[in-house]
Amino acid sequence: MYLKFLAGAFVTLGLFASARGAEDEDGLLERARAVFSALPADAGTEQYPVTPERVRLGQMLFFESRIATDGIMSCAACHKPGLYFTDGLVKSIGNQGRPLPRNAPTVLNTALQFVQHYGGNRKNVEEQAVRALISPLAYGNASYEAAMDRLRAIPGYKAAFEAAFPGQAQPLTAENFGLAVGAYERTLLTPAPFDQYLRGDADALGAGAKAGLHQFLELGCGGCHNGVAVGGQMYQKFGIVEPYWAATGSTPIDGGRYVDTKDVNDTYLFKVPQLRNVAVTAPYFHDGSVATLPQAVKVMGRVQLGRKLSDTEVADIVSFLDSLTGVVPASLLQTPLLPPNASR
Ligand code: HEC
Ligand code: HEC
Repeated sequence: MYLKFLAGAFVTLGLFASARGAEDEDGLLERARAVFSALPADAGTEQYPVTPERVRLGQMLFFESRIATDGIMSCAACHKPGLYFTDGLVKSIGNQGRPLPRNAPTVLNTALQFVQHYGGNRKNVEEQAVRALISPLAYGNASYEAAMDRLRAIPGYKAAFEAAFPGQAQPLTAENFGLAVGAYERTLLTPAPFDQYLRGDADALGAGAKAGLHQFLELGCGGCHNGVAVGGQMYQKFGIVEPYWAATGSTPIDGGRYVDTKDVNDTYLFKVPQLRNVAVTAPYFHDGSVATLPQAVKVMGRVQLGRKLSDTEVADIVSFLDSLTGVVPASLLQTPLLPPNASR
């Protein structure tokens, strides 16, 4: 009797679900378009133009380890093109083999975020690159001048900086280093199936991904992870419902934006990270404390929303997140030739 009732209920629910499914196709796309947008061709702006000369120089500098005091560090040492511009480690290993306190995020699509770093202490990719020159854990130089001296010792860079910054008397500066690396980063955009979907190709997402997109919006994930990068537009507390470390097992506990501002109101605030390419950039969170994407999604449900997500919900959300994995152009996967050392 009870079983019969249940079976009847399932049939009714099933019919309802498929009728709603057909009806929702357009509704879902409209809702998605209100929250997200498709990638532009590049992230250049009037102030930060993407010129071929800057991008070419920026790509060389991204791989340049001779600026580092240990001769090993470069952007590409921790943001490896073959690993979707991450290092795949829980936490990065820096200059002289010293550990960094955080996990290296991808730099693909990062220029679209409103600030850089988990604590937002870099206003854009240009400032981020400049400051790496004197960061003890990155290039390790004592001053910008010391960093530039290393570059000036390599004859070929003079012409490359002159081409990228025409009309300047002394173009080989730390500021221009940042502008060139930044221009390169502003080209690192990876169009994904989700962009095709947003542009109107309903078949670009499978049924699971659509169900996941629906969940993502229904549950409120899109309240924080939104915009063109599916995140990277605001700060939020990590651990709204309960302390994040109860779910991630994080040690030590990172204070988030507080580390940079020393304002107690910023404690445990982190930049909401972009989710483009998240399925291929494990491990997760600022400290790499969670190894898999399904686990990271469960943690989010628990500590941000106070929800215990079912395995089906998690699987659907993960297939939506898979649709954010983009294509890395072959040209970006090649190491550029760098100017040789002086030989005469
Ligand atoms: C020793 C490893 C290491 C090196 C070298 C390094 N990075 Fe990073 N990078 C990291 C880590 C770790 C973070 C996260 C820092 C944080 O959020 O506090 C990061 C963050 C970033 C971000 C911010 C991403 C985001 O989502 O907020 C950008 C952009 C970036 N790096 C670009 C570069 C560039 C360009 C260079 C070279 C000039 C470089 N990095 C050198 C490890 C490294
Ligand atoms: C209240 C804001 C908020 C909500 C709601 C939210 N998130 Fe997050 N999310 C964050 C913040 C902040 C982080 C960064 C935490 C950290 O690494 O310290 C994050 C990190 C993540 C990460 C890890 C990304 C990475 O590269 O390490 C994933 C995946 C994620 N969220 C997915 C989701 C999903 C799925 C939902 C809905 C179930 C969701 N989020 C809901 C704020 C939010």
